[in-house]
Amino acid sequence: MLVAQVSADQAIIDAKARFHPLLAGSGMVVSQERLASEVGAAILAEGGNAIDAAVATGFALAVTLPRAGNIGGGGFMLVYLAEQRRTVAIDYREMAPRSARPDMFLDAQGNVDTQRARFGIDATAIPGTVAGLLHALERYGSMSREQVMAPAIALAANGIRVSADLSESLQARAQRLLADPASAGYFYRADGSAPAIGSQLYQPDLAATLQRISDRGRDEFYAGKTADLMVATIASHGGQLDHRDLASYRVVERQPVCGSYRGNTVCAMPPPSSGGVHLIQMLNILENWDLRSLGHNSAAYLHRLIESMRRAYADRSRYLGDPDFYQVPVLALTDKGYAARSAEQIPLDKAGDSAAVAPGLELQESFETTHYSSWDRWGNVVSNTYTLNFSYGNGKSVAGAGFLLNNEMDDFSAKRGAANGFGLLGEEANKIEPYKRPLSSMTPALVFAADGQPLLATGSPGGSTIITVVLQTLLNYLEFGMNIAEATAAPRIHHQWWPDKVFWEQGISADSRAILAAMGHQFELAPRVLGATMSVSRQQQWLQGAADYRRSEAAAAGAD
Ligand code: DON
Repeated sequence: MLVAQVSADQAIIDAKARFHPLLAGSGMVVSQERLASEVGAAILAEGGNAIDAAVATGFALAVTLPRAGNIGGGGFMLVYLAEQRRTVAIDYREMAPRSARPDMFLDAQGNVDTQRARFGIDATAIPGTVAGLLHALERYGSMSREQVMAPAIALAANGIRVSADLSESLQARAQRLLADPASAGYFYRADGSAPAIGSQLYQPDLAATLQRISDRGRDEFYAGKTADLMVATIASHGGQLDHRDLASYRVVERQPVCGSYRGNTVCAMPPPSSGGVHLIQMLNILENWDLRSLGHNSAAYLHRLIESMRRAYADRSRYLGDPDFYQVPVLALTDKGYAARSAEQIPLDKAGDSAAVAPGLELQESFETTHYSSWDRWGNVVSNTYTLNFSYGNGKSVAGAGFLLNNEMDDFSAKRGAANGFGLLGEEANKIEPYKRPLSSMTPALVFAADGQPLLATGSPGGSTIITVVLQTLLNYLEFGMNIAEATAAPRIHHQWWPDKVFWEQGISADSRAILAAMGHQFELAPRVLGATMSVSRQQQWLQGAADYRRSEAAAAGAD
């Protein structure tokens, strides 16, 4: 097994390392945490397929990356099935409990109580991860549940070495997690300090939970002892989510949303994610210009990028929501004609106008979702993004079961015109309703060459910035001819209509920014990096993997 790990320090000291993707012949897994990538690659080496590896990696990340890897959250998995030459989109997004109401997070004055919407117990929606991963395994995997869950159980029971990344992130979220006795017990030392770098973190309750799921399957989580523990914890905090809610959870297989970009096919997650629709919409708009001749990250290119983003995010706020509750105009939004008209309307000499006042992006909240990609020797490919929403979800752990609860209810629009934790606005389409899925930005994506063969699997964390991060990664790769490591490393920007600002990463040139500022664009340095893509691409008979240097423990692991 080959492992290429790029630490932040290495990336700074040796910029070249960023531009050399890991090469492997017969399979690869790229994730945000090295042990989990190795778990996936070992499954491939044992003869498992990309789906087996993805499920094993998903359970492993629930142990090794507790801030985003999860069994208490939800997500989306795109699976390309080589033999059938088709892609399925597995929706295991959380669902609102049946007690949920459109005004549930409003206070007496009718304002959104953001504390309750983000960190209260009612921020937790019905988790989908266990149902989703096991659905993928049963339908498309080749190994047993016991085989793919064994590595995660071992990591939880035998302990993992605490990395700087894990220690630092627990320290950063100490206040929120220490307020919950269960989380304090699971993740901190007796004096309330975060575990030291290099110490072992043992998670016996989580190991036992995973073992029960491994023994009994999905029903254990939704109707067994784990369900009892979850409901008891939620009730102890005064929450509403109950056994009936858990028993009502369902996974949905959907048609991916696909489009084309200069002869390549791009498929991504359909609603209830907004990711696929707006990724295709922005690619369609951008296809109207010869971007390559404008030059990568030139002012002229960035202007077109920003204006495409502005339009897509405006549409997002109005039209996107759970398709089981609201008719999302997917075809209209991803229509090439609509994109051509948008492109025509974009003034090329001055910044567009998002008009009126906007709530700010709350970029101080740490953005923690996580993406991973896997690819096997038969050409099956998985692109998976899952999350607890914020870093460590709402900070509350299920006592006795060892896992954190999500705060995904904040992805709904709690009130028309009021921004959620990512500064995103919404209306009717994304209002809170019982059993509805909150609108997401998660964008697991797959790119296919003109002959239909898969070329690239990618995706990212980053809340509202996910879609624009994936967009730029695809453009870097498809339009500017970068290899996947270069495409990953290149500095990024983000605009989301409101606030009317261009967030930028170090490396976007001062000259480009000055030209754009003179055209009326407002710039703000992103307080954190924008996203963290975990990608695998195909270059002739080789797989090239790139773990984003923006996460210090990220790693590509190959099977040869
Ligand atoms: O589904 C969504 O769009 C958000 N819950 C994702 C949150 C996120 O990406 C946080 N971190 N990176």
